Amino acid sequence: MDRQTEITLIKEIIGLAQQKSAFLDDTIAHSPISRYSSPERFERERAMLFRRKPVIAAQSSELEGPRSFVTRDYLGLPLLLTRDDEGKVSAFLNVCRHRGARLEREKAGCKRVFTCPYHAWSWTNHGELRAVPQEAQGFPDLPRAERGLRRLPCTEAHGFVWIIANPDAAEIPDIDAWLGGLAGDFDWIGLADHRIAAIEEVHVAANWKVLVEGGLEAYHFRVAHKNTIGPYFPDNLSTYTMFGPHLRAILPRNAMPDLRDTPEENWQIRRDANILYALTPTTQMLVQQDHVMWFHFEPLSEAATHVRMATLVPRSAPQTEEMQAHWEKNQKITVTALMEDFELGEEIQAGFASRGNPSHLFGRFEGALNRFNIAVEEIIAN
Ligand code: FES
Ligand SMILES: [Fe+2]
Repeated sequence: MDRQTEITLIKEIIGLAQQKSAFLDDTIAHSPISRYSSPERFERERAMLFRRKPVIAAQSSELEGPRSFVTRDYLGLPLLLTRDDEGKVSAFLNVCRHRGARLEREKAGCKRVFTCPYHAWSWTNHGELRAVPQEAQGFPDLPRAERGLRRLPCTEAHGFVWIIANPDAAEIPDIDAWLGGLAGDFDWIGLADHRIAAIEEVHVAANWKVLVEGGLEAYHFRVAHKNTIGPYFPDNLSTYTMFGPHLRAILPRNAMPDLRDTPEENWQIRRDANILYALTPTTQMLVQQDHVMWFHFEPLSEAATHVRMATLVPRSAPQTEEMQAHWEKNQKITVTALMEDFELGEEIQAGFASRGNPSHLFGRFEGALNRFNIAVEEIIAN
């Protein structure tokens, strides 16, 4: 984010506060509940969105150092992510090419060779078939080159490992192009130089879009979060900007409107606002004063989502017990507020079955939710 954008975004908040106005779209909008409750709709999202567009599979520090690896189930695929001796990351299906056993059972570790627990075929961390026990007798003339691990398009950018979750996809597009202009913001934040200081995972019985939408407006802060973070934010004051299918929202804290009384050169957006980046489909980053919260949504079905919530901190921050306690305290505050959102999300999801609401309403100050849904609609239509 350049300085001019920073000043403009702060001025916009100050102006709205002076006018005692929320940030308004032209009209209210409707969102049909079938978007959140239909299995057919979910299958379409899986085919057109989750399996076709770049998604984040891991944070770079989860693969720390040469020969590190991570396994995880993601978007219906068992994944094996590896880092080689040169630091390059690869993504494979964690599926043995003999008779399909789960190749690596550990969640994470350090290995150059992966050996199947069933009959001990083995592969390198580049996915090349390395050894087949009793090969000459059992598998004469085995075309080894055809039995490499199935590879997924994969790249590393801005401190994350991105994949196309489809082994039939040819390549992954340029991530900065996919980010629609947000790369400059991520450079400004220094995202590439962050590591995970704390992480938790939770299973939520709600559609992934219900959870994404929960982060895109400040209308609910003083109500749903009245006993936690609500009092630190002005009522229903936030702005947003679209970047292709993604968006950036500014969520000012109470002090930001008062900046009008201080010289512009002292303004710092990260000091007085949270900045939310919502990357369609499955990632949100909440940029706070000295750290970034990373929320990773893994859609499991139309009514279930696995969520990873992590505190990302600059690698340059001192790694002391005191700092770790600070990060863990921040993690707890954010997760407590998020659990309030997730409880509401589960109640919303349960309400879909009643069919009492044919659609949800987005008020003029909930425009970001509508824009996010329009972006998803456009992607799954093509
Ligand atoms: S299934 Fe993996 S070696 Fe046989
Ligand atoms: Fe919330």
